[in-house]
Parts: sequence; structure tokens; C-alpha cells
Amino acid sequence: MMTRVEIINDFLAINVKPGTTIQDVVEAAGSALPFGCRNGECGTCVVEIVQGMEFLSEINAKEIKVIKEVCAGLNTQNLRLSCQMKIERPNGVVRIKY
Ligand code: FES
Repeated sequence: MMTRVEIINDFLAINVKPGTTIQDVVEAAGSALPFGCRNGECGTCVVEIVQGMEFLSEINAKEIKVIKEVCAGLNTQNLRLSCQMKIERPNGVVRIKY
């Protein structure tokens, strides 16, 4: 009942239960993925979901607003804020690139 989270840049992978936040994953795995406000306001933690968007919580209003501001002109379809996401479903693979 775990989902595997891979942080591509750091060559890290960790298996976690649904409900685990990506902040928890980053801290547990020892990733260098940067955070700023940790409240969905600064955009420091923006990442690309290379695989497994369907295993994550739905994108929220803060993410939509900040990603639009920080990544204007880019294809934002697979972008998320790490501080706002959590693993929602088991038996998946989520691949994250920052
Ligand atoms: S750390 Fe500021 S938006 Fe995620």
C-alpha cells in the first residue's frame, strides 16, 4: 500500500504511504529540493511531475496562482508546488524533477 517517490535530480527514491506530504518525502530522503515559505506563496519549490500526477493530491488554488506568476510563458501543465502536494493514492510511482 505504498507509493514510490523518485526525486530525479538527487537519484533518490523512497516508498511512502498515502497522506505523506512531499515535504516529508524530501526531508526523509535527504533531497536538496529547495523550499522557501512552505506556504504556497513564493514559488521556490516548483517542480515538474515527470510521472504519476494521478497519485498526488489535486492542485489547489495557491499552486495555480503562484505557478502562473512564477512560470509565465512556460508550459505549466505538469508543474506543482512541492510544499502543497501530498501522496494521495497507493501502488504508484511519482517521479519529480526540480
Ligand atoms: S516553499 Fe514557497 S511556495 Fe512552496
